[in-house]
Amino acid sequence: MSTLITNIAELMTQDPEHRVLKNAAVLVEGERIAWLGQAADAPAADEAVDAGGRALLPGWVDSHTHLIFAGDRTAEFEARMAGESYSAGGIAVTTGATRATGDFDLTRLALGRVAEAVSQGTTYLETKTGYGLDTDNEARSARIASTVVDEVTYLGAHLVPAGMDAEEYTDLVCGPMLSAVRPFVRWADVFCERGAFDEDQSRRVLRACKDAGLGLRVHGNQLGEGPGVRLAVEFGAASVDHVNYLSAADVDALADSWSGWDSSKGTGRGTVATCLPACDLSTRQPLAPGRELLDAGVQLALASNCNPGTSYTSSMAFCVTTAVLQMGLSVHEAVRAATYGGALALGRESGTDVDGERAVGSIAVGHRADLHLLNAPSATHLAYRPGMPLTHAVWRAGVRAR
Ligand code: NIG
Repeated sequence: MSTLITNIAELMTQDPEHRVLKNAAVLVEGERIAWLGQAADAPAADEAVDAGGRALLPGWVDSHTHLIFAGDRTAEFEARMAGESYSAGGIAVTTGATRATGDFDLTRLALGRVAEAVSQGTTYLETKTGYGLDTDNEARSARIASTVVDEVTYLGAHLVPAGMDAEEYTDLVCGPMLSAVRPFVRWADVFCERGAFDEDQSRRVLRACKDAGLGLRVHGNQLGEGPGVRLAVEFGAASVDHVNYLSAADVDALADSWSGWDSSKGTGRGTVATCLPACDLSTRQPLAPGRELLDAGVQLALASNCNPGTSYTSSMAFCVTTAVLQMGLSVHEAVRAATYGGALALGRESGTDVDGERAVGSIAVGHRADLHLLNAPSATHLAYRPGMPLTHAVWRAGVRAR
């Protein structure tokens, strides 16, 4: 089955040449993009969709979420808006509610969150464990996550549960818990921060998970300067996320990590800095220095960080809007960070067949047909009309999802 999407006013490819085509068309065959170019040159197809002079983008790639949870933290949010500051301790509240919820309801809740994200243009999603915090509940979270999203990250090292010694818990995260989640996950993460895991504990987690064959990511430099970015680069992590408080050495390390990168071969990749602007606003932290990072040559991603504590939204459009209006990115840069950047952070940005998965995050022949048609003539409207419902249609792996 082939579908020609034609009469596209603006086609923002986010391909290696950063092409933006006017009066364009895209041919989708099955799950893949088969052709793109000027509408006047388009090949025949089984069916045609008239984009009506709208803008077409790659679907959002949300590379940082925490969707496997139950419960609600409205009271904590209200207290924060009244002046209290965020601390990692709120994770325990969600852990209690998550443990008390059965598989069916936990799956249903996660599926509902995925559906919300897809209806707003997200076509590729990562999510983490981290609200189980014991072996059975982390394994259960990983198993459920593997049935509802594209990429799963093990975050047993999210918080030391009440009543446990930090070193003993780190042993558990690096041993039996890691073995139990391993069949369901591709990535591992650690919350390397004051009140969560210190440098030595984080190092132990990263070492054990790397030895187990997992790709790495780090929650780092969210609440203050610290070792997160340094550790992420040292371990060759695919991303370090939050990055609110950075030293000059952190910025240099992130930029240097890309010095040997060959994007055409996908070799020599460095560590992506993932900014989470919705979280920064919801915790009243300073926005991550996205402009400075881009200017330094760092590869940037934007993600929603959808979770019940610090960022209860899956709206990537909101993140893009904020990055343009408040962080100094251009619309093209912000859309790139929310599509190609997310794919880079997940190692899914190149190739037509990577580990059985097509590349995502850009519109190119052979890539997965993940497409987001805006109800607007250009992507600029994402920032020009903040907060407006601009998603008109979504294709996920070639299937119309909205
Ligand atoms: O990415 N920072 C750590 N983890 C989440 C928040 C988790 C929570 O408070 O429930 C985050 O912001």
